[in-house]
Amino acid sequence: MSHRTWLITGVSSGFGRELSTQLLARGDSVVGTVRDPAKITDLLEGYPATFRAEILDVTNTAAVQEMVGRVFARLGRIDVVISNAGYGLFGAA
Ligand SMILES: NC(=O)c1ccc[n+]([C@@H]2O[C@H](COP(=O)([O-])OP(=O)(O)OC[C@H]3O[C@@H](n4cnc5c(N)ncnc54)[C@H](OP(=O)(O)O)[C@@H]3O)[C@@H](O)[C@H]2O)c1
Repeated sequence: MSHRTWLITGVSSGFGRELSTQLLARGDSVVGTVRDPAKITDLLEGYPATFRAEILDVTNTAAVQEMVGRVFARLGRIDVVISNAGYGLFGAA
């Protein structure tokens, strides 16, 4: 399979981090969004050529639009977008 470029929100933990780690390990490129880049120093140092971090709070709609436009302009392509950032609320009703 050819290499793909992924845009994944919320790569500091959980599904986003695990997915990013596996994609980078197989040779794909990942743009991952975080609120705190200190949480992903391992990805930044481990994959300097294929991993790039963008600082983003996904509740800021204008910032989301600006970031997507900037990433697309720089890379020329985004093959897959994973809107992962967020959290679940669980409780009995
Ligand atoms: N785990 C489950 O069983 C389950 C089930 C169904 C759906 N989901 C959904 O799958 C997604 C990931 O779940 P997870 O278990 O991997 O969660 P997680 O480990 O808590 O990771 C959530 C990620 O989202 C980021 N995030 C949260 N709010 C954000 C915001 N306002 N702006 C930017 N980033 C934000 C967090 O960044 P910070 O480090 O900055 O907080 C973190 O990187 C969530 O959308 C969740 O609702 C999970």
